[in-house]
Amino acid sequence: MSEAHYARIAELYDTFVKTDYDVPFFIQEAQAAHDDVLELMAGTGRLTIPLIEAGISMTCLDFSAEMLAVLRRKLTERGLRAEIHQRNVCDFELGRQFTLIILPFQAFPELTDVEDQRRALQRIRHHLRPDGQFICTLHNPPVRLKYVDHQLRLAVREERADGGHLLVWLLQQHQPATQVVEVLEFFEEYNAEGVLVSKRYSALQFHLLEQARFEALITAAGLEVVALYGDYQKNPFIADTSPFMIWVLRPRAN
Ligand SMILES: C[S@@+](CC[C@H](N)C(=O)[O-])C[C@H]1O[C@@H](n2cnc3c(N)ncnc32)[C@H](O)[C@@H]1O
Repeated sequence: MSEAHYARIAELYDTFVKTDYDVPFFIQEAQAAHDDVLELMAGTGRLTIPLIEAGISMTCLDFSAEMLAVLRRKLTERGLRAEIHQRNVCDFELGRQFTLIILPFQAFPELTDVEDQRRALQRIRHHLRPDGQFICTLHNPPVRLKYVDHQLRLAVREERADGGHLLVWLLQQHQPATQVVEVLEFFEEYNAEGVLVSKRYSALQFHLLEQARFEALITAAGLEVVALYGDYQKNPFIADTSPFMIWVLRPRAN
């Protein structure tokens, strides 16, 4: 269960996830919405903080108390604010609707159970204004699978302020019967003398969601496609080569 995974690694998350390739895309989309944005599975605010700094009013949802504690601390340190809800994306009710809902960083497939995916999309549809949009980002399965090599690999070597290092090792394994990828993550913290001071292990799973399967899910949830991009530069999706599926969706009129 990914809740336990994120509880275990929340304090390390920002040290090993520093990527920002999607930030300009989401700033552009959020500014075009002219409204506050609901960010689902927001985590420690990797994307939230730059969006707020760009002038966007944010409502954030995540089920991990530990990840949200890091987000709250970062907001306080920067004198920023966001509305934060500790909820499961599969059964949330916020009592209002949004012009833009985003689910970034290819996190939706961490819902590996199809029923959870259905429930989440229904809740999202329920929270969208009739003229609203939902942006959901997924990996493109054939391209993502190229990185699943069943080998233990050093993914991150990050120097820390005290001269020590954090090393993150990953072992990714694909289960073809379920189209689930399991990522075993090993975190090693070394002091400035190179002595191992802590080691922890955690596992995360995600579903390789095929285009046709996701289309069926969104249709069942009463959503329809506005655009499908293959990357964060908004190039059209190409099935064999695009790294991502970036879905821009809207409620289907009945
Ligand atoms: C890969 S992290 C992404 C965090 C952040 N969006 C980012 O871009 O760095 C996935 C996040 O989804 C959250 N999450 C996973 N399953 C969830 C669920 N069912 N309901 C709410 N949050 C969930 C985790 O707690 C975690 O913070």
